Amino acid sequence: MTVTDVAATAVLYPLFLVFGVLQFIVALVINTPALVAWALSGKAKRRFLESLWGAVHKQPLGRELISTLMGILSTYTGSVSPFIAQVDATETLVQLTERPWLRNPFTSIHALAIANAAELASGLLATRATEHFGGRVIVTNISVAYDRKARGVISCHAQLTPEQVRQVESMASSAQAGKPVDESLVIQVNVLDSKKEIVSRLQATWVVRVSGGKRA
Ligand SMILES: *[C@@H]1O[C@H](CO)[C@@H](O)[C@H](O)[C@H]1NC(C)=O
Repeated sequence: MTVTDVAATAVLYPLFLVFGVLQFIVALVINTPALVAWALSGKAKRRFLESLWGAVHKQPLGRELISTLMGILSTYTGSVSPFIAQVDATETLVQLTERPWLRNPFTSIHALAIANAAELASGLLATRATEHFGGRVIVTNISVAYDRKARGVISCHAQLTPEQVRQVESMASSAQAGKPVDESLVIQVNVLDSKKEIVSRLQATWVVRVSGGKRA
């Protein structure tokens, strides 16, 4: 942070927090019918992320709502205010906006703020890809490369390779056959700026586990 950033943060950060709370309330009110339908559908248990995303992402402020809910479930991740732009079975997109309180002294986004948002993209993908067969995921290694200064809005794009899609399908078959699963999924996240240039790359190893014998 520079002196200007400190001054800007002192003024803007409290306003940003208040705005966030107000937006969350409005998003909750608008999306109450969708959330109630989702809760009653019974899908929340086995396909939590997939069904929550399906229920609200096209609604007004739906993605803002999911982003805030995830920020509440994982407060440390929420501290950089990531925006969850896309959650699909094989790819996710998380955006991070440069703000004075996320800047380093070199006037770009702090390395670990980027890592935080990129890790979220990888974790959402690991969860989304494996939750339907009862997979539990935990991160065991994160490695991040920084290629250039990150400025403006950056996009953290996580995607499964075709080989990983097959790996996930085979894990699902094992789980459905009642066999235990204990495998690593190394998820690659490319972080791009608005000019589509790669600013950073993250690799996160997620261990996927299903205990055997109780899944149908
Ligand atoms: C973490 O993963 C990276 C690349 O994916 C690898 O190079 C590194 O050795 C791993 N670190 C540890 C401590 O295992």
